[in-house]
Amino acid sequence: MSAFKTLDDLPQDLTGQRALVRVDLNLPMRDGRATDLTRARAVAPTILELSQRGAKVLLLAHFGRPKGERHSTLSLSEVLGAVEGVLDKEIMFISEIHGPVTAQAIDILGPGDIGLLENTRFWPGEEANDPEFAKGIAAHGDFYVNDAFSAAHRAHATTEGLARLLPAYAGRAMEKELKALDAALGNPEPPVAAVVGGAKVSTKLAVLENLSRRVQHLIIGGGMANTFLAANGVDVGKSLCEHDLTDTVKDILAAADEAGCTVHLPYDVVVAKEFSANPDSLRTCNVHEVAEDEMILDIGPQATEALGDVLKTCATLVWNGPLGAFETPPFDAATVALAKTAAALTQDGSLISVAGGGDTVAALAHAGVENDVTYISTAGGAFLEWMEGKELPGVAALSA
Ligand code: 3PG
Repeated sequence: MSAFKTLDDLPQDLTGQRALVRVDLNLPMRDGRATDLTRARAVAPTILELSQRGAKVLLLAHFGRPKGERHSTLSLSEVLGAVEGVLDKEIMFISEIHGPVTAQAIDILGPGDIGLLENTRFWPGEEANDPEFAKGIAAHGDFYVNDAFSAAHRAHATTEGLARLLPAYAGRAMEKELKALDAALGNPEPPVAAVVGGAKVSTKLAVLENLSRRVQHLIIGGGMANTFLAANGVDVGKSLCEHDLTDTVKDILAAADEAGCTVHLPYDVVVAKEFSANPDSLRTCNVHEVAEDEMILDIGPQATEALGDVLKTCATLVWNGPLGAFETPPFDAATVALAKTAAALTQDGSLISVAGGGDTVAALAHAGVENDVTYISTAGGAFLEWMEGKELPGVAALSA
């Protein structure tokens, strides 16, 4: 991991300084209310610390994908109340992002006060990473803090451009995230296991290719395990399966073999004739016994136990994606069992476990272990790109 500066590199007393702080407030909404405040909570320590140290804290964030135009429903004023609630502090909403209106509003703020600027994506310069646009924003700050790992895969003006124009620092959430990810895949303690689940191989090809070269154990679950089984000549019945990816999967298996990575596929599975909760046709069988009219919906208990034994031999685990159709019982069993094993090993101090991306957070929360693993990333696309081994522009700019 390249070096990056943190809030510890700033003077303790920041009175009179204007901090432009990129956060991710892209909160899930229903009927105009935020349904999950995790992202707001994640950035609270950075905001409160800068405020306590006397800076004027100016929050920059995107909300949805307005594509360079103003949309009232995508105004960041929609999440203002939710963020104020999390911080237990009043925030001034500033309906612009640069220019005289912004300057006047910032002048009114006192030391420690917080302002939330309008959705960065209302301006086309944001996604275009237009240097002139970035300069217009940079004029309102003395330094820049990026605390939005989940947006760091975007090379936008406020995630990347600003870091090149102002002294740049990682916020507390970004710092924690980068340290955890480095421990999981950057410079991990071996042996390393990776769990990759989810519906389709096609969405995670680059992840699988990268991991097969980097980890010692690659555990495949979810619908994508069916594609791997089929490539190995197993008849998976009417399971979700991408038969057209047989050659690709064979290449991944060959690359893994060459790199000394063991790919773990289930040898017993939970199947049913229809996908519903607790169906009458539910049964557990060997992978070679799946009938033509059955589909694989979870990994079986024997394979799950064997995977637990694999984790017991490992020092590091990185997890993305559920092992089965975990939202529908009883197809959550393998995910829950393996998550509990990972959590117990982590609590015993023998495993560093880092999980993230899409359904993973929900799956681990469903298993009740979200507080017992080393680190859970709430980033979606950024976490996947990191698992693909890509350099994230927002992170790279902090280390430049
Ligand atoms: C996310 O919700 O994953 C981040 O906020 C990034 O959003 P985006 O995919 O619209 O860039």
